[in-house]
Amino acid sequence: MLERVEAIIQQLVNEVDFPQASELFATLSGGKRLRARLILTIAPNDSRAPLLGAIVELIHAASLLHDDVIDEAMMRRGTPSVNATHGSKLAIMLGDILYSKAFSELTSFDPEISFSISQSVMKLSVGEMMDVAMAESFNVNREEYLKMLYLKTATLIESCAYCAAILENKEAARYGLYGKNLGLAFQIVDDILDITSDDETLGKPALNDFVEGKATLPYIDLYDALDGDERDKLVGCHGRELSKAEKVWIRDRMEHFGVIERSYHYAQELCDEAIRCVPEEAALRAIIASVIQRSY
Ligand code: FPP
Ligand code: MG
Repeated sequence: MLERVEAIIQQLVNEVDFPQASELFATLSGGKRLRARLILTIAPNDSRAPLLGAIVELIHAASLLHDDVIDEAMMRRGTPSVNATHGSKLAIMLGDILYSKAFSELTSFDPEISFSISQSVMKLSVGEMMDVAMAESFNVNREEYLKMLYLKTATLIESCAYCAAILENKEAARYGLYGKNLGLAFQIVDDILDITSDDETLGKPALNDFVEGKATLPYIDLYDALDGDERDKLVGCHGRELSKAEKVWIRDRMEHFGVIERSYHYAQELCDEAIRCVPEEAALRAIIASVIQRSY
């Protein structure tokens, strides 16, 4: 069924009827398609589920195009970002085309669905703005960080699960909560992999979050665990390129204080909570497993 989503994505991009946009879009890597997979798994019998999956994947692709401009990121999914190869202007404009095409198609759905998805995209835009503001100095507030994560990543995944349940006449609230917990766990695992994986596996430089100024959960916990000069040293590393020795030191201190395990344990708890929302859905448990066990 994912092939059907891919075919619809291609068709929607072709309908834009602008070869430069199609050519540029063809250079993007599709990624894990987590959001489309989620929709198809929750609504396997609904004929419009693949279209909703395609719409959400186009919105997600647009958000990443814009995010790479905002983060000045040169790599995305193992290849140079569009802003790196074609400049920020083209990356923004391609993002604009993709999300506005997606929203045009979304109008054909029930208002409860179109409202939920649109509302979640507003929230993810607010989350992005929070993320940028929080990166200006070392944010050590865990609650604030989790709120930003919810907005930036979990809201769209929550909405996908909620809307797919509406399509399939299932209890939308329970599925939405599953999606929220899955989305939070997904982003926390992402944050962990940024620290524990190497550049090649990640498809972007490792430890890049902290270089970009993003103090993710393991950094917040490390800050709490350190004191005196070591805490000052960590703060001094924030938001700049790191030397090899500094990278080794950060990883070593994280290992020493077990902060990665703590974040991983928290992600696991969120996954358990997600499963408790929909205990009858074995296939949704498999999606959880693929999120928590992945290496990139
Ligand atoms: C990646 O975060 C960014 C997001 C999940 C959301 C970005 C949202 C916007 C730019 C709002 C605009 C929305 C649209 C539809 C145009 P990250 O930087 O932490 O992750 P990364 O390491 O994958 O870049
Ligand atoms: Mg980014």
